[in-house]
Amino acid sequence: MFKIGVAGKGGTGKTTLSCLIILSLLKLEQKPILAIDADPNSNLAENLGIAQPKSLVEIVNEIEKIKNNLPYGIEKSKYLEMRVQEAIMEEKGFDLLVMGRTEGPGCYCYANNLLREWMEKIEKNYKFIVMDNEAGMEHISRRTSGNLDVLFVVSLSDKISLRTAESIYNMINNLELNIKKTYLVINELLGNKIGNNINFPVPVAFKLPFDEEVYKLSEENKGILNISDKSIAFLNVYEFINELCKSDLQ
Ligand SMILES: Nc1ncnc2c1ncn2[C@@H]1O[C@H](COP(=O)(O)OP(=O)(O)OP(=O)(O)O)[C@@H](O)[C@H]1O
Ligand SMILES: [Mg+2]
Repeated sequence: MFKIGVAGKGGTGKTTLSCLIILSLLKLEQKPILAIDADPNSNLAENLGIAQPKSLVEIVNEIEKIKNNLPYGIEKSKYLEMRVQEAIMEEKGFDLLVMGRTEGPGCYCYANNLLREWMEKIEKNYKFIVMDNEAGMEHISRRTSGNLDVLFVVSLSDKISLRTAESIYNMINNLELNIKKTYLVINELLGNKIGNNINFPVPVAFKLPFDEEVYKLSEENKGILNISDKSIAFLNVYEFINELCKSDLQ
């Protein structure tokens, strides 16, 4: 199992990059793939162009409501495990899991512990996991193992965005996560190009040039999985993921 995470400030292109990584893996036939939407403002499904499944949090909430009236003779943990399977949506070539938004100050420690155990079990069924995160991955260690093989921190190409990306990177470093390799991804979404002399604690994996096709698909609410093989943003991601598959997985 090889796990890729994507983090970065709001609107920098995390979900777009997650979709392009998933598409690259599909084209490279690196299956089975699990896509995880770990951003509380979940929109990975929408960007992929598929239906939004029920989230894990929604399922846990439903169970919490009926916890004193569970089917006779079933332990709560067994019942939870049975129900959370519903959160995995099978798509063409990959599965999707949406974590969802925890509402209110209520403690989900019990559910989070069970979910972490369950996640660790199901993750083993996949060759690749691609996880779209909230900016600084604040909730991640509570619900998953916290292990990542590769983390991409996405930033726009201006100096202020790069400084924000650096604080996010430092924040992630202070969480108890086990990340093997971190890269910066520069998204030239706003059109401003940046040279190759970037002062950042980790290397640049690739740049995402402004891509008319990405923009149009998003405007028209069509999934990024429909992007053409000529898209420059896609090709940059594909090239890097192809190399990653050849090198790191051997
Ligand atoms: N390289 C690019 N070329 C053209 N459009 C892009 C590019 N990168 C991102 N976009 C567009 O910019 C918008 C924001 O991108 P995206 O949703 O991927 O960012 P995000 O970091 O996931 O945002 P959020 O924090 O809201 O989840 C989207 O409409 C997307 O289609
Ligand atoms: Mg997003």
